Amino acid sequence: MRKRIDGALTGVFAQPHELLHAVTALRAEGHELIEAWSPFPVHGLDDAIGLRPSRLPWACLAFALTGTVSAYLLQWWTSVVSYPVITGGKPLNSIPAFVPVIFELSVLLGALGVTFSLFVASRLRPRFSPPGLFDGVNDDRFVLALRPKHGYDREKLLTRLRELGAVEARAWGADHLEPAPDCGERKLGPVGLALIFTPAVLTLAAIPLLQRNGAVRNFDWDAGMLKGYPSTYDAPNALLPAGQTMQPPPAFTLARGAHQELFGATPAEADRAGLELTDPLPDTDASRARGKQLFNRICATCHGFEGRSDGPIIPKFPNPPSLQSTRAVAFPPGRIYHIITHGQGLMKGWGDVIAPDDRWHILHHLRALQRAGATPPAAAPAPAPASAPRSAP
Ligand code: HEC
Repeated sequence: MRKRIDGALTGVFAQPHELLHAVTALRAEGHELIEAWSPFPVHGLDDAIGLRPSRLPWACLAFALTGTVSAYLLQWWTSVVSYPVITGGKPLNSIPAFVPVIFELSVLLGALGVTFSLFVASRLRPRFSPPGLFDGVNDDRFVLALRPKHGYDREKLLTRLRELGAVEARAWGADHLEPAPDCGERKLGPVGLALIFTPAVLTLAAIPLLQRNGAVRNFDWDAGMLKGYPSTYDAPNALLPAGQTMQPPPAFTLARGAHQELFGATPAEADRAGLELTDPLPDTDASRARGKQLFNRICATCHGFEGRSDGPIIPKFPNPPSLQSTRAVAFPPGRIYHIITHGQGLMKGWGDVIAPDDRWHILHHLRALQRAGATPPAAAPAPAPASAPRSAP
């Protein structure tokens, strides 16, 4: 009930249709209806009283949407940001997989939220005695409370109520015949307060019994079944094959985003790479800049900054062939990619340190060097035969 009644008239009826009729008639006559009570829902009474539609569905929608959004964000954050694990080859942000949790949380928050809103809106809270309503209103009596319209005689209205079939009609309120009815605004007594706080008190009392050390379990009732088995990738692991944590990828599988080397390390494969492998990347300024950076860092040690094979460790290292030679200029792109990846003869392969794209960037820089130094130096050392067996660096 919304309003406190400090002055009102009440009529008690024995039949629901009488209540309905009285409510309709008295409102039509201009009196203000405060409330109607009945032991069961009376059809048509909502309309007769002029109840506005409930706003609770909006509260329900708001709570449900909160559930929807938070369930999605939680799953997105855990599976995309915080702990991305590819499952069944699906994208990390797989909304269909999130739907069950989104649905559940929307329903849960919607239901709990609307119930909570109902309590707040109707000011329901724990009481230790039910509101003292009118005798029989929970059983076989139908009661209405109203205020007479301005200037209308209270006594006349009481008569009118009886006319409409009220078995009992009374005036309530401080300045009226009897005190206002007690509509349940009871205070919580000390016993009630003590009962409400009992769970909290018991919980507090139990705290000294708990383990203070967060690393130690309190009650080991599950014989350790819930205990995790933490392990780093390189730690020995008695549970997994070969006693190791990190396992090789299953046969015939390729990790997502992994580069697959299509050519072997033999000279024949180098020739085949020259024929079959094409440069997938555009030869741009940015590409050459990246290539130059890596070339100067890695290749220039032996091949020199211009590819004339006069790097700082020459001649301590067996002279590498000039990259400005007609032979090197004529190498197809795929061949040079293969040399960078797998090496050639005395030169070690750099596939383990240079990413596939970077190999093409180096090629672009090398081509620029070759264009700049168009005349190959006369004293270029004889290039080693491409078919020379590859030796370990
Ligand atoms: C440690 C010294 C060294 C480094 C560093 C090095 N190379 Fe070489 N490179 C050689 C030697 C030595 C040869 C000749 C190998 C053989 O055929 O026996 C060679 C051969 C080559 C060839 C073939 C030339 C030909 O005419 O046969 C190319 C192309 C080449 N290197 C490119 C590169 C590139 C690109 C890099 C950087 C990623 C690089 N090298 C890094 C020593 C080096």
